[in-house]
Amino acid sequence: MPHPKHIVILISGSGSNMAAIVQAAQQQGWQQQFGATVAAVISNRPDAAGLPLAQSLGVATQVLDHRGFESREAFDAALMQLIDRYQPALVVLAGFMRILTPGFVAHYAGRLINIHPSLLPAFTGLNTHQRAITAGCVEAGCTVHQVTAELDHGPILAQAAVPVLPGDTAETLAARVLVEEHRLYPQAVRDWLQGQP
Ligand code: GRF
Repeated sequence: MPHPKHIVILISGSGSNMAAIVQAAQQQGWQQQFGATVAAVISNRPDAAGLPLAQSLGVATQVLDHRGFESREAFDAALMQLIDRYQPALVVLAGFMRILTPGFVAHYAGRLINIHPSLLPAFTGLNTHQRAITAGCVEAGCTVHQVTAELDHGPILAQAAVPVLPGDTAETLAARVLVEEHRLYPQAVRDWLQGQP
């Protein structure tokens, strides 16, 4: 393959979406099909459960603790340096709980995607599931989108909806949405790879 397509995944927590993407890559043979591999998983939290999970799947991990930096700009600059060691074709945010600076977003323009647990443009930001229940939505879901400077905006690449059921709590609804996230995100990354030269 002339141009290996490295994917770098950023996490902060449990990393279940990361694992779904790594497993899809391995099981569906993205290396053979697209010349694509998940080159690294990077966490801003040293205690992220997704780190040992990534290692158990055979993926290199890195930690860059944001608490060691004086400003958002300084952290993002260091994060860019770390990511760029892998020369990524695609940077995947998977539960990465940091607001990114405009400079970071511009640097990865067109190759930076995120999954958000709502049917965007509804419910940007946090506590999406409780807000959907409180608003009386009959449907909730998740969205994969390109990342632009404005939080949880940017062109939508894929969406999946689930019903909101009577008696749902934020936890039961989140669990139902997460099942769809694990299906949708690998599919969206695969579609993105398929669209690349
Ligand atoms: C997911 O619901 C994702 O949409 C949101 O944070 C959660 C991360 O879960 N941004 P995980 O770390 O992928 O398990």
